Amino acid sequence: MKPLSARVEAVPASVTATMMQKGREMAAAGLDVINLAGGEPDFDTPQHIQEASCQAIHAGDTHYPPSHGKPELLEAIVAKHARDNGLHLSPDQLLVTPGAKWAIYAALAAILNPGDEVLLLEPAWVSYAPMVQLNGGVPVHVSLPREENFRVSQALLREHVTPRAKAMLVNNPTNPTGRVLDQEEIDAIAAVAQEFDLFVISDEIYEKIRYDGAIHRCLAAQPGMGERTVTVNGLSKSYAMTGWRLGWLAAPLPVARLARRYQTQSVTCAPSFVQTAAVTALNGPQECVAEMVAAYDVRRRFLLDAVQEIPGLESGPIQGAFYLFARFTETDKSSLEIANILLEQALIATTPGIAFGQAGEGYVRFSFATDMASLEKTVERLARIVPRL
Ligand SMILES: Cc1ncc(COP(=O)(O)O)c(C=O)c1O
Repeated sequence: MKPLSARVEAVPASVTATMMQKGREMAAAGLDVINLAGGEPDFDTPQHIQEASCQAIHAGDTHYPPSHGKPELLEAIVAKHARDNGLHLSPDQLLVTPGAKWAIYAALAAILNPGDEVLLLEPAWVSYAPMVQLNGGVPVHVSLPREENFRVSQALLREHVTPRAKAMLVNNPTNPTGRVLDQEEIDAIAAVAQEFDLFVISDEIYEKIRYDGAIHRCLAAQPGMGERTVTVNGLSKSYAMTGWRLGWLAAPLPVARLARRYQTQSVTCAPSFVQTAAVTALNGPQECVAEMVAAYDVRRRFLLDAVQEIPGLESGPIQGAFYLFARFTETDKSSLEIANILLEQALIATTPGIAFGQAGEGYVRFSFATDMASLEKTVERLARIVPRL
């Protein structure tokens, strides 16, 4: 056999997926594993959204829709951004994708030439660096300072901009740290992007999942940013629709044009009846979102209180998303070693901080998009295992 793709070979498998799979296998073997490795709501998709999709299927909504998205969904997305983000778009700027992940992929494909650098603010979602590499780009790892709870500053961003820098990938609210960027941080990103003429891909998938009144600031709506920012969003997290695969990007027209072309020559479209259900999700009652966020909030408070009671564990405030990113302060073990011990000896599947970049070393991510009983058991097990690390 001739050598396979060096480009794909160079990309690591997702640590999150590996840990989730290990946890599943142990559970299948009869062990009482608590699986907190993944990033998916434990709730079922709200009933009215399920029904919209079933009705659509029964009405024959099972054909190819327009590749870039159905007109009624584009309208619903335009309205959503005007309502929630003060962002005024034309439908031509949008591309509906099968999941936000593909929207990021399409944005990178539209923007990057081989060797172009993309700044990643780390700890950052596990898939960003591989997605940049698969699109011919070079990830530039910006390690945010843990002693300042991973604050973004202009000075740090500037240090990492070279003449090859083309874009910055930002995630707000942030997986895994739970940070929601404040105005000063948003201003820092906007200033550096404008000074060095960088594109910004702003992944806002956790926009709706915020606590304690944290304010979401949409980067594209900041002065001077509309012409260089690709906003990525979707339904997976806010409407508990991970398996449906529905996301989108909103971009400056030239970027949207190429991203659309890329989609026509790859996945073609997001499924038709899922797009119909998405219109219901965006235009229909929003109480379901508030109810899920309220449930995450109870779990968040429970975990933050519990962490304070366990010597050797520490966490910053969690303002958004549904992860506890805890630092293990009393051990020399690596985050991978800690995550393996948690899995093998305490039967808790997690994601080691190193999966999010060097800045995450010493931390472990626990998803709290799971039921309270499992979280209570997690805390009991942590209280026993942490002193033995
Ligand atoms: C930061 C971030 N962006 C994007 C995604 C992917 O979302 P989707 O299911 O819409 O592809 C995830 C999923 O874990 C995520 O954590």
